[in-house]
Parts: sequence; C-alpha cells; structure tokens
Amino acid sequence: MQQLTITRPDDWHLHLRDGAGMPHVLAHTAEHFGRAIIMPNLTPPVTTLEAALAYRQRILSALPEGNQFQPLMTLYLTESMAPDEIDRAVDSGAIFAAKLYPAGATTNSAAGVKDIKSIYPVLERMQAKGLVLCVHGEVVDADIDIFDREPVFVERTLSTLVRDFPGLRIVAEHITTLEAAQFVEAGPATLAATITPQHLLYNRNQLLVGGVKPHFYCLPILKRESHRQELLRVATSGSNKFFLGTDSAPHPQHLKENACGCAGCYSAHAALELYAEAFDAVGALDKLEAFASHNGPDFYQLPRNSDTVTLMRGETAVPETYPFGEHVVTPLRAGETVAWRYGDAN
Ligand code: DOR
Ligand code: ZN
Repeated sequence: MQQLTITRPDDWHLHLRDGAGMPHVLAHTAEHFGRAIIMPNLTPPVTTLEAALAYRQRILSALPEGNQFQPLMTLYLTESMAPDEIDRAVDSGAIFAAKLYPAGATTNSAAGVKDIKSIYPVLERMQAKGLVLCVHGEVVDADIDIFDREPVFVERTLSTLVRDFPGLRIVAEHITTLEAAQFVEAGPATLAATITPQHLLYNRNQLLVGGVKPHFYCLPILKRESHRQELLRVATSGSNKFFLGTDSAPHPQHLKENACGCAGCYSAHAALELYAEAFDAVGALDKLEAFASHNGPDFYQLPRNSDTVTLMRGETAVPETYPFGEHVVTPLRAGETVAWRYGDAN
C-alpha cells in the first residue's frame, strides 16, 4: 500500500505543557489531529474545573489561526478532591476524563493518590456521571522492580477497580506489557487501553544497548521484545478496546540529557507516521484507521471526525531538535527518517 486515507485521527493521551513551549508542541498535534485528551500534570496540577477551563483557554489561544483542533480537558485526581467537583466538571461540557496518578509514579505526580480507597467517593461519582477514568498503571513500591510495576498494578489495583466499579469506563493509559494487554483484552467493555508509538516500535534494548539513550526513557519504561510483540498483536487485532494515545511528553533537551533525566518521549511531530510504520511492519495497515480514528471516540462516546487525512509512503527527515519555548526538544527519530508523510491534501 503506497497511500492510505483514513478518518482524521485523535490523540487520546497528550502532554502539551504550558507557557512558552506549549504553542510549539501544540502546532505539531493540531496540524493533523482533530482532538486530544490533554494530560493535567502541570505544576501545579490541574485539579479544579476552573484550572482546567483556564488551561483550555490558553491552549485555544495558542492555536494557529483557523485551526479547528479541540482540546479535551482532564482533571488530576487528588485525595482531597470533593465528589462535587466531578459534577461541576461534567456539567461544564469541557472535561472528558479524570486522571489517576499513583503518587510518585511519574512526572509531576507527587500530588497524586497514595491510597486508592480514599478516592472511592470520587470514583463513585464518576461512575454515576459517566466520566472516564484514565489510569497511569504502575505501582510505586520501592521493592517492586521497575519492569514489573505495571503487571503488579494490574494485579493489585486495576483488577480491583474493574471489580468495584463495573459501570465506570476506565482507560489503562500507555500500556507496555503482555499482562496489561491481555487483562484489557479479556476485560469488560468498560475497560480499554491506549498504546504509544514508542512501545509499538521499540524494546528496552533501544534504551540501553550501546549506551544509555535518555530520549527513549519514558514511563512506563520500554519493556522486553516479547511485550512489544503482544502490544502489536492487540493493537492490530481488530479489537475496539485499543486506541491511539501518543503520550507525547516534551521535556527540554538539557533536562533529558542530564544525570537524572526526565521521563518522556516526544512524538507529536510524526505521531501517525510512526504508528503507520509499526502497523506496516506486521502487515496491518488496514487496522490503523480503527486504532487511530474510530475506537477512541467510540469509547469516549464522542462522534468520529468527519474528514480524512492521507498518508503517503516516502521517507521524511526528522530534524535533530524542534523549538520548545526558549529551549529545544529532541524528537523521536531525531536526525533520522520516518517512512511516511502526509499527502498534499492534508
Ligand atoms: O514518560 C512519561 N512522561 N510518562 C508519564 O507518565 C508522564 C510523562 C510526562 O509528563 O513527562
Ligand atoms: Zn502521559
């Protein structure tokens, strides 16, 4: 297949950050994607409806002239959130999910949840109001190996949430393991998952062989090849429970290339192209449209986009860096190529 026209995609897991860098990374996503679920892990985190609406306005103001991109805002769950905040959020029409960060699991998660039971009243309200729960699925216990943090979360916490909240729609975000993939696949229709391009394209050798490569360090961390194979299998299986969520997470280059480098891969510059490579590698380009453009809106109970984008086979060079406010961000494939590009019509 040399050319592929699909319904315009959405990104169901995106970090846009805030301030001077935000317009730069927003432009990449908004050029081709219709909507994105905007992660709330700013400093301070987006824990109230007012903060989310103000952030939404800053995003809309930073869009290129005439661009129709829609930011779908989320709330950051804390142990002190009142259930009424959920009612206000849903009633506003601007909030599409709330995000559970186990405290300490990842970037700006310190204000997250230590004891899952403490947010049960909020989860009850989300279930009643039909607000989606997005979950960073890793335990943080010091005695759990970093490569096991997701499977242990699935066993201890995700399975409990699915059991205790049968009517709550839950997205296991950026799944990285066979255990998570199979748990979601076998789970109820209320349970779905997003998968990033880096977890479909790379295993942990990419991060560690031949030297530590900080631009491939993200959380959950890249896993061994057998997990990547299983992620590819479920993503291309035709199941409607898996969909596109890049977790594009820009950090200034100097904070990645650092003795204590930040977690996050930047992929917004070539997101759909990278997914196309991954699907093409297993002969499943015909499954890309459902993954990128149908399954997400269907799960979130939103209309699918009504226009299309076209991808053409053809190598495109990726620059070493992109501007990111007063700094630069190093993208996935920096200084290399991606095998697809958008057609002229898009
Ligand atoms: O690698 C990651 N980066 N994983 C996350 O969960 C958060 C993200 C970020 O915000 O930088
Ligand atoms: Zn993320």
